[in-house]
Amino acid sequence: MNLRKLLPVAGYKHWEYNMSKAFGITSAIVLVITAVLFAVALSGSNDSRRDSVFLSVVAASDSVISSEVPHYVGSEKCRMCHLDIYKSWKLSPHAHAMDVLNELQKTDSTCIRCHSTGTKKDGSRIGYVGCEACHGPGSAYRKMRVMKDRALATQKGLIIPVQSNCTQCHNDECPSFTTFNYDSSVKVGTHVMPSEDETAK
Ligand code: HEC
Ligand code: HEC
Ligand code: HEC
Ligand code: HEC
Repeated sequence: MNLRKLLPVAGYKHWEYNMSKAFGITSAIVLVITAVLFAVALSGSNDSRRDSVFLSVVAASDSVISSEVPHYVGSEKCRMCHLDIYKSWKLSPHAHAMDVLNELQKTDSTCIRCHSTGTKKDGSRIGYVGCEACHGPGSAYRKMRVMKDRALATQKGLIIPVQSNCTQCHNDECPSFTTFNYDSSVKVGTHVMPSEDETAK
């Protein structure tokens, strides 16, 4: 029996993701339900019944974990539905944020923390400040059904960025930091905003 699957909080790797608390609560609820059902199963005398309850609880907690803990997928995955945004982001400094680091710095975790997005499920690094660095890991919200429903998408990890999402990187922990002005930076530093095109045309 793989007990590690029952301890999602302890085994949880994506600490960099700031929704982790919310998903921690989900996991905690699963753990409590698990404990109760397990106790019920143990109090019974039938061994096979106990095993089947245990197995179904393991399966249930596993599916909650794998479907609800979002991971980074990379900006290419957003491209097909947000092409104009993708293209303008691609021209921005964020898409090339690793290029300002020398070879040594590219392996220095203190630098790549802000000059990249994070790692994909397979462990490979997303070597740029991508969509998900501002909008949150996309594995759970990038499906059309979810994306169309803003409340659901937010629940699945979509972030509508505000100033504090920028200043987690734009601060004096970078040796090259000078200043950061949100109002002017957000106009030139992110991407086109299609919803504002009405007035632009
Ligand atoms: C299958 C198509 C699809 C994919 C893939 C997709 N999106 Fe979306 N996205 C949509 C649709 C549809 C909307 C609804 C608003 C609209 O019409 O633009 C949306 C809305 C959004 C919004 C605006 C939410 C709001 O209410 O203001 C953000 C931000 C966003 N997507 C980010 C992303 C990111 C980041 C990715 C990649 C991880 C991504 N999307 C992948 C289709 C998609
Ligand atoms: C807290 C996040 C953070 C950390 C940590 C960080 N950087 Fe930065 N870095 C930024 C941001 C944000 C910018 C762009 C904003 C600016 O220029 O002020 C930047 C810009 C730079 C630039 C200037 C690029 C240019 O076009 O002028 C260099 C070079 C750089 N960083 C190197 C490093 C090195 C080397 C390290 C590791 C020792 C590092 N950074 C660590 C966030 C960070
Ligand atoms: C540097 C941070 C940053 C990056 C990187 C970034 N965005 Fe955004 N995005 C924002 C901000 C800020 C807004 C405006 C939020 C608001 O409505 O207040 C926004 C808005 C959006 C919207 C809504 C647009 C509209 O017209 O209302 C979509 C869709 C979106 N982003 C998708 C993406 C995709 C796809 C990528 C990657 C190709 C991406 N973003 C990369 C910061 C970012
Ligand atoms: C994951 C870390 C990270 C986040 C989050 C982030 N940035 Fe950046 N940003 C960087 C880095 C690193 C650079 C430097 C890239 C380069 O010089 O090539 C940069 C460069 C920029 C630049 C161009 C350089 C400058 O300072 O004028 C602008 C503008 C900018 N960011 C705006 C924003 C805004 C607005 C947000 C929030 C909506 C944001 N960034 C969120 C890391 C980040």
